[in-house]
Amino acid sequence: MVDESQESKSQETTHFGFRTVAKEQKVDMVANVFHSVAAKYDVMNDLMSFGIHRLWKRYTIDCSGVRRGQRVLDLAGGTGDLTAKFSRLVGETGEVVLADINDSMLKMGREKLRNIGIVGNVSYVQANAEALPFPDNTFDCITISFGLRNVTDKDAALRSMFRVLKPGGRLLVLEFSKPAFEPLNKAYDAYSFHILPRIGEMVAQDGESYRYLAESIRMHPDQETLKAMMEEAGFENTTYFNLTGGIVALHRGYKF
Ligand SMILES: C[S@@+](CC[C@H](N)C(=O)[O-])C[C@H]1O[C@@H](n2cnc3c(N)ncnc32)[C@H](O)[C@@H]1O
Repeated sequence: MVDESQESKSQETTHFGFRTVAKEQKVDMVANVFHSVAAKYDVMNDLMSFGIHRLWKRYTIDCSGVRRGQRVLDLAGGTGDLTAKFSRLVGETGEVVLADINDSMLKMGREKLRNIGIVGNVSYVQANAEALPFPDNTFDCITISFGLRNVTDKDAALRSMFRVLKPGGRLLVLEFSKPAFEPLNKAYDAYSFHILPRIGEMVAQDGESYRYLAESIRMHPDQETLKAMMEEAGFENTTYFNLTGGIVALHRGYKF
């Protein structure tokens, strides 16, 4: 006999870039993208953003309010740019957890951070943002930088982050968003759909993954929608800051 709830579950769909796919398929498709790009991830970030991703990340740290001795979760942390900065900020008495669903990205992150001498207060956890394997009220701050876009059930992920934040803790979501200025939109589209996949092809031998990147950015909720989703998950005093004309936005919300 067919279990009806199982049948309707397998028919649920979501987006993978511009394609509509079964929900269960997306996690493997996203995994393939990041297995494929892991080794060239950092160099591609610098090339694609002309190095500006460093400023967006710096701004995120500045808005985090993280202090010595605190516990931070860098979720979907990948190659660990934010983890490295937080590790220095929280010091020996604090702790940073770099969590990511993808073992190739985690491996690159762990190697990179060890090579630059970041050891001691950082731990590495393979985890899905939708079901975080931490007790309630664990972290003072959670960041998810360029990660939420790739998560299948974003509402479940936001609820999970809310659960593991301590009261008084804050979530920072750094993500591509909607440019606030129409002419910028056109130039940005031309760059994303024509130039970016070519750079991906030349540098990472993978134009397809960078086509997914451009498409996934367009499918991601805009500034106001993401703010409403955070509020729905329980976050309060939620605000966002447009960076580089809204190409990227930093959302921040608190758990009280
Ligand atoms: C574009 S990278 C961002 C890496 C890093 N945070 C940065 O800003 O450079 C996106 C990361 O999200 C991770 N990711 C995708 N889906 C995830 C999920 N459901 N849970 C946790 N991590 C996920 C990917 O494996 C990848 O490492």
